Amino acid sequence: MNAIELLKEDHKKVKGLFEKVKATDEASEQRSLYEKIAEELEVHTHIEEEIFYPYVIENGDEELSDLTKEGIEEHHEVKVLIREIANLTDESEKLEPKLTVLMENVGHHVQEEEGEMFPMCEEQFDAATLEELGTKLEEEKANYKPCASAASGR
Ligand SMILES: [Fe+2]
Ligand SMILES: [Fe+2]
Repeated sequence: MNAIELLKEDHKKVKGLFEKVKATDEASEQRSLYEKIAEELEVHTHIEEEIFYPYVIENGDEELSDLTKEGIEEHHEVKVLIREIANLTDESEKLEPKLTVLMENVGHHVQEEEGEMFPMCEEQFDAATLEELGTKLEEEKANYKPCASAASGR
C-alpha cells in the first residue's frame, strides 16, 4: 500500500474515535475511547518516526525536511498530553479540557501532514518509493506492540 494512503487511513480512524468522545459526556466511556486513541496514536507516531519521517528528513528538500522535524516535536507534545491524561482520574475536572486540547493538537498536526507534508512528499518522491515505504510501514505496524502502560498510566 502507498505510504500516504496508509497514514491517512490511520488519521481517519483516530478522527472517528475523537468524534465518539465528543458525542458522549460519560467519563468512563470517554476514558475507554481515549485508551483506544492513545494506543492508535502510539502505533501511528511510532511507525512515522521509525520509518516515514527519517526517510523524508533524509531525502526531502529543506522545507520538507524542516516541516517533518517540526512534526516530531508535535508528536512529542501529544505524547506528553497522553501521559498526563493517563494519570487523571475519571472524576478529574482536567479530563475533558485535556482531551479537548489533545484533540486540537492532533487535528492541527494531521492537517499539516495532509495539507503540506504529504503533498510535498508526492511531489518529491516517486510512486514506487511511496509504495515501498508503505510496505515497510505495514510491516512495522504488524510487528509493533504498543505498551499498554502509555494509556493506563501504569
Ligand atoms: Fe500522521
Ligand atoms: Fe505525525
